[in-house]
Amino acid sequence: MCGIIGFVGREQAAPILLDGLERMEYRGYDSAGIAVRSETAGLQVKKTKGRLQVLADLTHGGADLEGSVGIGHTRWATHGEPNDVNAHPHVSGNGRIALVHNGIIENYLEIKEHLQQKGVKFTSDTDSEVVAQLLEFHYNECHSMLEAVGRCLRRIEGSYAFGIICADYPNTLIAARKDSPLILGYGESGNFIASDVTAVIKYTRDVAYMNDGEIAVVTADAIDVFDSELTPQDKAHHQVDWDVSAAEKGGYAHFMFKEIMEQPEAIRKTISPRIRNGRVVLDNVSMPAEYVKGISRIYLIACGSSYHVGVVCKYSWERLLRRPVQVELASEFRYSDPLVDENTLVIVISQSGETLDTMAAMREAKRRGGRTLAVVNVVGSSIAREADDVLYTWAGPEIAVATTKAYSTQLALLDLMGLYLGEALGTVSGADYDEILKEVQALPEKMECILEHVEDVQHAASRYFNHDSIFFIGRNLDYAMGLEGSLKLKEISYIHSEAYASGELKHGTISLIESGTLVVALGTYAALFDKAMSNVVEVKARGAEVLALTTEAYREKMEKVADTTLVVPQTHPVLQPSLGVVPLQLFAYYVALQRGCDIDKPRNLAKSVTVE
Ligand code: AGP
Repeated sequence: MCGIIGFVGREQAAPILLDGLERMEYRGYDSAGIAVRSETAGLQVKKTKGRLQVLADLTHGGADLEGSVGIGHTRWATHGEPNDVNAHPHVSGNGRIALVHNGIIENYLEIKEHLQQKGVKFTSDTDSEVVAQLLEFHYNECHSMLEAVGRCLRRIEGSYAFGIICADYPNTLIAARKDSPLILGYGESGNFIASDVTAVIKYTRDVAYMNDGEIAVVTADAIDVFDSELTPQDKAHHQVDWDVSAAEKGGYAHFMFKEIMEQPEAIRKTISPRIRNGRVVLDNVSMPAEYVKGISRIYLIACGSSYHVGVVCKYSWERLLRRPVQVELASEFRYSDPLVDENTLVIVISQSGETLDTMAAMREAKRRGGRTLAVVNVVGSSIAREADDVLYTWAGPEIAVATTKAYSTQLALLDLMGLYLGEALGTVSGADYDEILKEVQALPEKMECILEHVEDVQHAASRYFNHDSIFFIGRNLDYAMGLEGSLKLKEISYIHSEAYASGELKHGTISLIESGTLVVALGTYAALFDKAMSNVVEVKARGAEVLALTTEAYREKMEKVADTTLVVPQTHPVLQPSLGVVPLQLFAYYVALQRGCDIDKPRNLAKSVTVE
């Protein structure tokens, strides 16, 4: 995700800003920029697509920008391609206000139209530039930057961390936050704002954490904090005792664990901008009802975990749409002489947007006349650029090779899309639509309940980490979820594992179940719980050790037959895998931890497989 740093003090700001941005490189970005206020040259802004080194070369390590107050930004594109113009900082029309932003402004289009009607000219495609222009609009009204910021924050909707400097204020920067983290750093040579402590830990360990709605006025000698009503706030100081490596992972031991914990927020960021007045809106994807009704076949095509999202989606969409939904491995689809025509909707799913098999499958589908829609996490990636339509998951950069938050946000986004298509087809009743939408919006909070009790999973992992072969069994949506649980375990713990449709066991594979075999029995799909129970009894009878996963309502029943039982909150049946997958991610993580594996960079694997 984006990284922000700001400095005001008694030293040249530019080198400090570049250094801070470099320490946040791990967050992932596609462009970077800095703005410094100079006594003689006003606001100096340098920004560019690409790596930070390009920016450092462009500014001779910051030496070209004179001044002791400035802001810096590494951008992870959400609205607008990664390029020089869309890079931050963004500057108001009169060139006197510069702003950096981390987050998503959900009502930016209506504000942009309002300002354009007043003659404001925009240069970028970003939501962030709208805020810079809105600031100038309010500043011209009230001639106070603090008041202008207050008015701005009352007008915008969405998530933000802002760093703002103004040519009229020689020794001041202003910060504000809502939903996107921002810290305040109290240093010897001056004071800081930053997205996380990593950026400032070299200069100070004395920090404070901004709360939602707060505004900070930062000078070289003081930081004054106000609430949204501009009432002064006292801030507790914290002494950061992390080392830099831990700071990069937000204090967690691994990126994978950090990203598991980020899932509720990642889902919120992905779904909130797409739900307006109780209806699903799919960005600028135009699928009129008559087109949707004319779809004869839907393909879901992907690789790895993204393919597993497609399998879950098949089960849920066929219930919602009453249409055949075909899920295919990209590497198989492209060579299978697939049935594709102008009435085929081909949805490709990819975190990286660069997976060659998925790209090739999409091209084959286009060549045969299909309409392609990409669900991608990386803005401006190859697959995103070539698809007819693209819907972005806003999970932020995913650093760990083993995907977690991208998987969850892909699922959530496709849940919304299922409702959208179901409404167009008339196969989802108003009541079901409302019920499922309500439950999609409740997913983050229910996921947080699971994440508050990771010790239950950690305890299970400490019992079972020494197994050398583990089965994940389940039916229907549980089976689909088990595919992901099994892959997570294989990827990072190197334990052989297999996900199996539990009704199929008796047709051969059950011969592998012997005394001590560990079976992870998945029973979260309520409609088939009794079947799940009977499969537990079946494998127990052959000596298996059973770790079961079910929902609270079925805990007591399952505990009667399983050796260990984990539970997750109940949600709508078609959404249940979104919750059940979290303990499976954690189980894989803790097993790998016990086995001393390289969790973030497992052997033989790459984060994006750009080869055949
Ligand atoms: C997931 O944990 C794996 N790293 C891998 O299976 C991955 O899902 C697959 O390579 C597809 O990647 P993509 O989503 O970037 O296309």
